[in-house]
Amino acid sequence: MKLSIIILAAGQGTRMRSSLPKVLHPLAGRPLLHHVLETAEQLNPETIYVVYGHGGEHVCDSVQEKNIQMVAQMQQLGTGHAVDQVMPSIPDDHQVLVLYGDVPLTRMETLQAMTTEAGQNLSLLTVMLDDPSGYGRIVRNQQQQVQAIVEQKDADTQTLKIKEANTGMLRAPAQQLRQWLQQLENNNAQQEYYLTDIIAMAVADGCDINTLQPQQIEEVQGVNNRQQLAELERFYQYQQAEQLMLAGVTLLDPARFDLRGQVKTGLDVSIDINVVLEGQVTLGDRVQIGANSVIKNAVIGDDVIILPNCVIEDAVIENQCQIGPFSRIRPDTHLAAQVKVGNFVEIKKSQVASGSKISHLSYIGDTEMGKDVNIGAGTITCNYDGANKYKTIIGDRAFIGSDTQLVAPVTVGAGATIGAGSTITHDAPAETLSLSRSPQKFREGWQRPVKKK
Ligand code: UD1
Ligand code: CA
Repeated sequence: MKLSIIILAAGQGTRMRSSLPKVLHPLAGRPLLHHVLETAEQLNPETIYVVYGHGGEHVCDSVQEKNIQMVAQMQQLGTGHAVDQVMPSIPDDHQVLVLYGDVPLTRMETLQAMTTEAGQNLSLLTVMLDDPSGYGRIVRNQQQQVQAIVEQKDADTQTLKIKEANTGMLRAPAQQLRQWLQQLENNNAQQEYYLTDIIAMAVADGCDINTLQPQQIEEVQGVNNRQQLAELERFYQYQQAEQLMLAGVTLLDPARFDLRGQVKTGLDVSIDINVVLEGQVTLGDRVQIGANSVIKNAVIGDDVIILPNCVIEDAVIENQCQIGPFSRIRPDTHLAAQVKVGNFVEIKKSQVASGSKISHLSYIGDTEMGKDVNIGAGTITCNYDGANKYKTIIGDRAFIGSDTQLVAPVTVGAGATIGAGSTITHDAPAETLSLSRSPQKFREGWQRPVKKK
């Protein structure tokens, strides 16, 4: 069977009240449309077509893959009209699966079931709803065979009592679909060309209509406003949290965990509340992450402890490091094993060799630091002269006194000591004390000012 997939994404999404096209609003960090595309790709179709309208160039820019064709629908004249825009590109011997760019969480298995045993028959994905208002209703005869879909706005009181709703997703053979679409008319309540009207035509042509149901209702839920977006986000996040817990990760509260990307986890990882993982994250064995931390595109080694309120991005942190609380590790940072980074420390584009400690209130940027270095509180690498960035090199076992400015480019030799409060503008020799400090003065008998009356 050859499969073409059509994803409808031309709607304006007025109820989002946004300048961003609806299908580009993110769920778990990725546009809604990308979730649908990823699922569609797993079905190995010949081609995926995205029908776009409002916000066209943004939607097109967000889709770069080769086997995805973008098809414009200039005016939104209905779902049938939207599908018809693509039909000239689809060969007669294909099966056509229609999906929606704003229904992000359909399982691949559900869609696969719609395409098995595909022939001259049709597959419809339907759902039983306690309150189906707004949805098209699935009308069946006495033998329970599907006869038609009737839209809410066109339904009589009897039809409105039907609880079986149309999800919109269907699969049909291309040749027949083409003919049915050509016969569509818009003489209905909304004056639209309804895709759903092809069902009655198929029945008249003697086609079998198979219906399938999703495992969970969230699979067929669309996003029309930000409240529905938030509901699906929570559902998705909870599913991811459950998978991680089943894989052996402790989540102190699965309702307060967010994964916007992929994470690989070792044994006995423990994650406290309000942790956000983004992009590609790897967590080694026994990693502990404290509350309120954000970790993006990072590799974290075994036995690393991240205390609360840390932000880590594009970094490698090797085994047994301790980070935080309140540390910021910025891109291109590599911390070797057993490095300790404490509170209110920012590190950017720096390599720190094993055993070094940067415990309090420091900025380390564009730095190569050796092993077992001790950086005193308040140390700053002055890496930027307002125009260019320069490197700081610090040798093994150097001891940098508190409140030191290292004015780059500058090298501190191995085993060097820098006296507290120094501004280091020249290289500091190895195994030597370097000190730049104004001499202390004394004024005997000096009096503090007193408040004037
Ligand atoms: C549609 C179905 C209804 C079903 C419901 C499920 C039809 C006629 N009705 O109704 O049976 O219960 O979905 O949510 O199909 N779109 C386009 N171009 C258009 C019109 C729509 O791309 O010209 C896209 C929209 O962006 C949207 C989707 O198709 O993603 C559904 O369109 P919408 O107008 O919301 O259909 P409903 O009235 O919800
Ligand atoms: Ca809708």
